[in-house]
Amino acid sequence: MSVKIEYVTWSNSYSLGIKQIDEQHKGLLVFVNDLFNHVSGDEKQERLYFQEVIHQAIQYVKEHFATEERLMVMTKFPGYTVHKRKHDEFTLTVVKSVKDFEAGKRLVLEKFAYFLKDWVLSHIAFMDAQYAQYFRQIATRKTNGKLTITKADVA
Ligand SMILES: [Fe+2]
Ligand SMILES: [Fe+2]
Repeated sequence: MSVKIEYVTWSNSYSLGIKQIDEQHKGLLVFVNDLFNHVSGDEKQERLYFQEVIHQAIQYVKEHFATEERLMVMTKFPGYTVHKRKHDEFTLTVVKSVKDFEAGKRLVLEKFAYFLKDWVLSHIAFMDAQYAQYFRQIATRKTNGKLTITKADVA
């Protein structure tokens, strides 16, 4: 039996300070770790696992992107178009790999897991961090210290 290892640990440095987004990012890392934990080198096993989880994972990612995009539109974030393009490109890349996989192309689960891990972590650090910073700039700080965005902030 293989040992379960957490390959990516959530760190506060990944936190953007927006609760819903942080929770979704944690969920993405849970999936990344699940992928690593199913790397066995046995392609037949890896294929069965991948087939079972990938569609739900894509759905999760799409919902996450939609949450961010709604937030960016709502706050009139100037980097929205560029950011959305990054989301769309990533989704297309993943959907294409899944199509290739379903057409019988060789799957190396470890490679896919690294690709996902690297993309998610760098996207959080370099792209998501930008709207989070903008969000903090325009948000109103309530007396309890919490940040909220009202219509007045984005008018
Ligand atoms: Fe994100
Ligand atoms: Fe994003």
